[in-house]
Amino acid sequence: MSESTTIVIFGASGDLAHRKLLPALFNLYRKNRFPDNFQILGFARRPWDDEKFRVEMEAAATEFCSYDYSYDEWLEFAEHLHYISGNITDQGDFKSLASRLEQLEPGPSDRMFYLATAPRFFLKIVESLGLLGLVEESEGNRRVVVEKPIGTDLASAKALNKGLREVLKEHQIFRIDHYLGKESVQNLLVFRFANAIFEPIWNRNYIDHVQITVAEEVGVGHRAGYYDNVGVLRDMFQNHLLQLVALVAMEPPANFEADAIRDEKMKVLRSSRPFSAEEVSKETVRGQYRGYREASGVAPDSQTETFAALRLHIDNWRWQDVPFYLRSGKLLAEKCTEIAIQFKRPPIQMFPLPQDFEMTANVLGMCIQPDEGIHLKFEAKVPDTAAETRSVDMEFHYRDSFGETSIPEAYERLCLDALQGDATLFTRAETAELSWSYIDTIIAAWHSPDGPPLTSYEPGSWGPEEAHDLLSRDNRWWIRTCGDHSDPVIDPLHK
Ligand code: BG6
Repeated sequence: MSESTTIVIFGASGDLAHRKLLPALFNLYRKNRFPDNFQILGFARRPWDDEKFRVEMEAAATEFCSYDYSYDEWLEFAEHLHYISGNITDQGDFKSLASRLEQLEPGPSDRMFYLATAPRFFLKIVESLGLLGLVEESEGNRRVVVEKPIGTDLASAKALNKGLREVLKEHQIFRIDHYLGKESVQNLLVFRFANAIFEPIWNRNYIDHVQITVAEEVGVGHRAGYYDNVGVLRDMFQNHLLQLVALVAMEPPANFEADAIRDEKMKVLRSSRPFSAEEVSKETVRGQYRGYREASGVAPDSQTETFAALRLHIDNWRWQDVPFYLRSGKLLAEKCTEIAIQFKRPPIQMFPLPQDFEMTANVLGMCIQPDEGIHLKFEAKVPDTAAETRSVDMEFHYRDSFGETSIPEAYERLCLDALQGDATLFTRAETAELSWSYIDTIIAAWHSPDGPPLTSYEPGSWGPEEAHDLLSRDNRWWIRTCGDHSDPVIDPLHK
């Protein structure tokens, strides 16, 4: 970082800036992570001035900061907040932005431009920045953070990446996937590669299958206008779920550098077996919660999926024949993101147990949220029996080991990394495109006349029955390792 840093937020009056960016930046300030000289300049259409921007951001801090702070801290931070009202499609407003930057910056400064606007403005902004020379790096770093979605299919992702690269170098582009900023997601690499005991068994010889669940309790709410054109496959699978698959399945990287890690993740995506149109019907499930079509902003005959499940295969030496079952949906029974690694059962059953008794397989559960931690389920002898066994749970919870307040918001980590030029937790162009080519095949098959039917599910359930069938026909069940495991339908292991 140079002596001075400027963060320009396009879309500074919007939801993302209020809910996520402002609380993250304020907390970074409180932790002394900025240089002495820094300024945050909001750019948006609303006719605000610095004073009004500060008032608005104060309200955002009151509502969305999850930590305690003193009013004095807020006042100090607020002095660094500035605002310029402008229209993204007006070159004149970008010239005003350029002059404002010159006024605010004491000399050569690093600049981070954060695109927190609707995606249709991304290229327009970058083009204008380019035309005015605002992203030339002669006087400091110039970085551009691009919010999701990176396109809505392969063709649009390629067009966006191409447009970005016409103005910027790849090292200047930071494509956000906020899941990668979650502490418990970053811990996946540490868990796998900072411990000697797991990696030797992290393969097809010991692992029966992997499950990834990203369940949300909320419905589409006020985002129906956006969501109804998108659906869960584009909204959650193309980015968050495939990134989790890559982190679980990747080979050890050569080192902890951004490109070494991202190269290994790419290889996983490259080895993911593409579906043929016929396979899509067997290997995927699409569901819509009852009542979705009545939500305001949703087409009355909407075919948009709010739930999906699929069986993914990775064709390589480590994972051949180990299915990865993925599911995600809205308005499900509870909010939870977890990864369950189910190990193979012992090869023989030597205990005096009833003949048809099947011992529970060992399961490693990685709880990404909300109760961040790790669970290892293994068999133990029930006391005062000859040899009856039962599954017990060895648990690690972040809050117990590191305290309630130790987990920063994903955006904190991501903003800091982008400011420091560390791209490890950001998505490369090719990765976004590879993910789209995987997802596009499924979407195309879903929309073809022979595609699988859109099933429906009850709000507050765990999705359509078909999602359970996807596993039960392999003699497997969805497993819950974190939170309350009392639901026998999804978790026969805990009956
Ligand atoms: C976003 C999706 O990327 O992730 C939302 O657009 C979804 O639809 C959200 O609700 C979930 O994020 P988190 O961090 O709450 O799991």
